[in-house]
Amino acid sequence: MGLSTPLIHQTVSPLYLLAAFLLSTVVYFLVKSKRAGLDHIRGPWLAKYSNIWRGYQAWRINHHTEGVNNYQIEMIGRWGDVVRIGPTHVLVYNPEAIDTIYGFRERLDKGPGYKVFLMTGTDQTALVSIKDEKTHGIFRRPLAHAYSLSSLKGYEPYIDEMIEKLILELDKHDAAQSPINMTRWLQFWAFDVMSKISFGEPIGFLDHGNDFNGMIQAQRENFRYISVANNFLFLDTLTKRNPLLKLFKKKPSMFFTFAKRVVNERLAKAAKDPEAQSQSGRHDDLLASFIAARKSYPLMTDIRITHVTATNVLAGANNSARAMDSAINWLTAHPEAQDRLYNEIKSVNMEAMKEAKTEGPAALELALKMPYLDAVIQESYRQFGAPANNLERLVGESGLTLPNGVHLPPGTVVCMNAASMSMLPDVFGKDVRVFNPDRWMQQSGESAEDFHERRWSMQRAMIVFGHGSRSCIGKNIVQLELYKLWATLLRIYKFEPAGVKVHQVMTIPKRREQKGGKAVEI
Ligand code: HEM
Ligand SMILES: *[C@@H]1O[C@H](CO)[C@@H](O)[C@H](O)[C@H]1NC(C)=O
Ligand SMILES: *[C@@H]1O[C@H](CO)[C@@H](O)[C@H](O)[C@H]1NC(C)=O
Repeated sequence: MGLSTPLIHQTVSPLYLLAAFLLSTVVYFLVKSKRAGLDHIRGPWLAKYSNIWRGYQAWRINHHTEGVNNYQIEMIGRWGDVVRIGPTHVLVYNPEAIDTIYGFRERLDKGPGYKVFLMTGTDQTALVSIKDEKTHGIFRRPLAHAYSLSSLKGYEPYIDEMIEKLILELDKHDAAQSPINMTRWLQFWAFDVMSKISFGEPIGFLDHGNDFNGMIQAQRENFRYISVANNFLFLDTLTKRNPLLKLFKKKPSMFFTFAKRVVNERLAKAAKDPEAQSQSGRHDDLLASFIAARKSYPLMTDIRITHVTATNVLAGANNSARAMDSAINWLTAHPEAQDRLYNEIKSVNMEAMKEAKTEGPAALELALKMPYLDAVIQESYRQFGAPANNLERLVGESGLTLPNGVHLPPGTVVCMNAASMSMLPDVFGKDVRVFNPDRWMQQSGESAEDFHERRWSMQRAMIVFGHGSRSCIGKNIVQLELYKLWATLLRIYKFEPAGVKVHQVMTIPKRREQKGGKAVEI
């Protein structure tokens, strides 16, 4: 024993071991890169060999979140329309390829990056992270009705109730002539309204006036984590999926405790009184719809119902808050646009306003008749740049040929990035970085035909809500929220800059009219 140990140390020096290790690592990366069959596609050299490049870019940008930016936007035009962003990963910028990658013909499976959306510590499949189309169809079918256009009308009273809560707060600031942090309050509103539509109860941010349960902060951290980890799956395996870390598991979040309580109460009620459940009317929220779906879909177990209802709030609130934030930010700096919207809203809404005894929030069918409001909302979707992750798909056994002739071999992870697709200068104009709702309107001197063509090509390139069978199930609901919110608030208030220059939107809301309808001098 005593003799042999030093002998080994003499023959195999640690330096040799290290060299051998490094060499085999290099060979591994080279072979992996070569095998992917993507050498015909240009891109940063490190990306050809390792996902470290992509993970680093995501980390770099996500820790400096001033304004709208990500590495995908920065690379527009640099490497052409098809860029290799990893050994097996390809990013595409060409709008013509949207249908090829996400359309109903190819039906590509989702790529590996979606793994990070699986819920920690459960075996529940989030809809968004289901790999293949067939399984996805089975899980999406029981949910579809709740999100359909025909269900929207039922959610209006829920949204109205939350708008009225926000009006209460705005009126306080109007009376005191004090600034309100709109970034913050729109966040509260977005979370409460999604919770109200999902569970029939708000979480309570608007009542508390602060992030009382830490949920908004937790969300922010989770989003940051995901945007890096989905480029870097071994990080995810090390942290969230590591069985050792389960020993240190934190208590369930207050939000999930809330979700579980509401769902259990409602399930108990449904068990006692199955008749009430089949009559619509009393509860028109998403949860009611999911509970009703149990009859025809056994896969809607209690835990699954809790999960899909809670996911709505997590999936929907942050993104919509960001869209609202970018709109109010621009509007505050553009009083003339606020006036234009005010006039548009009034001209459509006059009769309805006279009839309503309260200051009733705008009805959807009215809100939809306002082209300039629509332009502002489209632009807010375009500008806020979500979601940050690439929408990855896996090329199947027959390979995939993009419209520009570039061929991708089986096993390639092909993706687009919604934020950068909204920033293509060839589609949206040279001023892509600027918030400019007018780009959605007919220009003076532009023929109707040209305008439709231009608008259509912008709409085609915007994949903010995804595209095809895996696109956002909540899009109709977001539209409803935003139309109603702005049609109501911009009719009632003029938002003036608060004079403090901060990154968040601070405004002083001023009523244009007294509650009774009398005009206020402003
Ligand atoms: C402005 C707000 C929103 C944006 C920009 C947005 C964006 C997206 C995108 C891009 C996808 C598809 C991703 C992919 O291809 O993998 C998606 C999926 C999804 N979204 Fe949204 N979303 C928003 C709001 C909402 C809301 C309010 C809800 C819930 C009511 C929601 C629920 C979902 C669900 C469940 C999926 C998965 C759908 C499936 O895989 O079948 N989203 N969203
Ligand atoms: C406004 O709200 C945002 C978002 O909650 C917060 O980060 C920021 O510190 C607030 N700004 C001010 C000036 O209170
Ligand atoms: C949404 O999440 C992003 C990414 O973490 C965060 O920077 C942002 O502050 C959040 N926005 C809102 C309005 O909640």
